[in-house]
Amino acid sequence: MIRQLADALDLFHAAAEEVCRIGQYSLDTTGRFSLVLSGGSTPRGLYALLAEHPYRSQVDWKKTEFFWGDERAVPPNHPDSNFRMAKEAMLDKLDVPAGRIHRIEAERADIDGAARDYELKIEDVLGRVPGVGRRPPHFNLFLLGMGDDGHTASLFPNTAALLEKQRWVVAQDVPRPPSPRITMTPPLINAAHYIMFLVSGSSKADVLAEVLQGPRDPLRYPAQLIRPLTGEVTWFVDRAASSKLLQHHRTEA
Ligand code: 6PG
Repeated sequence: MIRQLADALDLFHAAAEEVCRIGQYSLDTTGRFSLVLSGGSTPRGLYALLAEHPYRSQVDWKKTEFFWGDERAVPPNHPDSNFRMAKEAMLDKLDVPAGRIHRIEAERADIDGAARDYELKIEDVLGRVPGVGRRPPHFNLFLLGMGDDGHTASLFPNTAALLEKQRWVVAQDVPRPPSPRITMTPPLINAAHYIMFLVSGSSKADVLAEVLQGPRDPLRYPAQLIRPLTGEVTWFVDRAASSKLLQHHRTEA
């Protein structure tokens, strides 16, 4: 599903409403809400809104479990840290207990060990999925962005993580700084109940049309790998980002 909004501010409000709707629903029905945050610059406006009236009182944020879909190999106080961005824009203002904030320790020298430890952390917090073998747990809500090359999380074109079938979290070198990065992999992302992409600005228009309406080529456009098994995916896009989409695919919100 595609929701087209007029501009970035409308997009952030529509996304904030949806995050709160899913958060409330998750807490009401299961007593918990697991939320995976995206990095980059686009979600900052959403995070800032969530920390303000009316959204801040619509979800019991103190019971929300916060994760990150990817992280850059920088210390947590570094300007490029995805953790730092979310902390400053939202988490500090919502007084979320430290025990609910599960950051990726991508600054560690043993970055592979940090990726493996994050898998254990996820299983520890969300619980083991019953059944044969080790199955990826289901996050309630997964936020994603997309780069102008079609990457999402830190799943970059033609990189090994795109083909990963067993691991849920891996470290890899990526073609854009900061590198290396730790990223969740498609099997874990696609197990989520609900996925929201946020895409804003004209620099994303060409790639958005390729990803949503072009031929399938996920090694070139990794965002095409995101197809939840049983969950839903919604693309929140503004008019600038969606200007190259064919008209009949657009849904005005
Ligand atoms: C990251 C990401 C990444 C991001 C896109 C879009 O750590 O960089 O999580 O996938 O969402 O690169 O970034 P912008 O919002 O800055 O365009």
